[in-house]
Amino acid sequence: MEHANDITLTVNGTQVSRRVQARQHLVDFLREELGLTGSHLGCEHGVCGACTVRVNGEIVRGCLMLAVQADGCRVDTVEGLTDSKELSEIQRAFHQRNALQCGFCTPGMLMAAQDLIRHGRSASRERIREHISGNYCRCTGYQAIVDAIEEVLNGKA
Ligand code: FES
Ligand code: FES
Repeated sequence: MEHANDITLTVNGTQVSRRVQARQHLVDFLREELGLTGSHLGCEHGVCGACTVRVNGEIVRGCLMLAVQADGCRVDTVEGLTDSKELSEIQRAFHQRNALQCGFCTPGMLMAAQDLIRHGRSASRERIREHISGNYCRCTGYQAIVDAIEEVLNGKA
């Protein structure tokens, strides 16, 4: 039988305690245990960025981190940052510029974009592209995504 651990963490501002299997990944925990399905599961190998969440203020791949490793941590997901309105500006820019089509990459892309926005004052398009290079989008060709991030980051409408 697989080893189970009791963990307590703060997810989107609420403390939760659960018994988890040692090998359960954080993104599976968030989706299956807590019903937070905004973080998506794509490659499951740390490549596509669909599973991006924030742990103790830094963005991480939810498919590479185990739920037990988040014990005692503060985890923020796209749902939490939407509720707190932290994402409202970048969400508006994505919407206005049609920076999404199927939407599968969008939660992870918003989390990555917001990470740049909250840490940086301004950035070139190259720097924006570099920052989101770990987030794959199969639909948009990235142009509109970079436009939206640039608009919020550099105040360019
Ligand atoms: S599902 Fe985690 S990086 Fe692709
Ligand atoms: S909008 Fe479809 S993968 Fe990005």
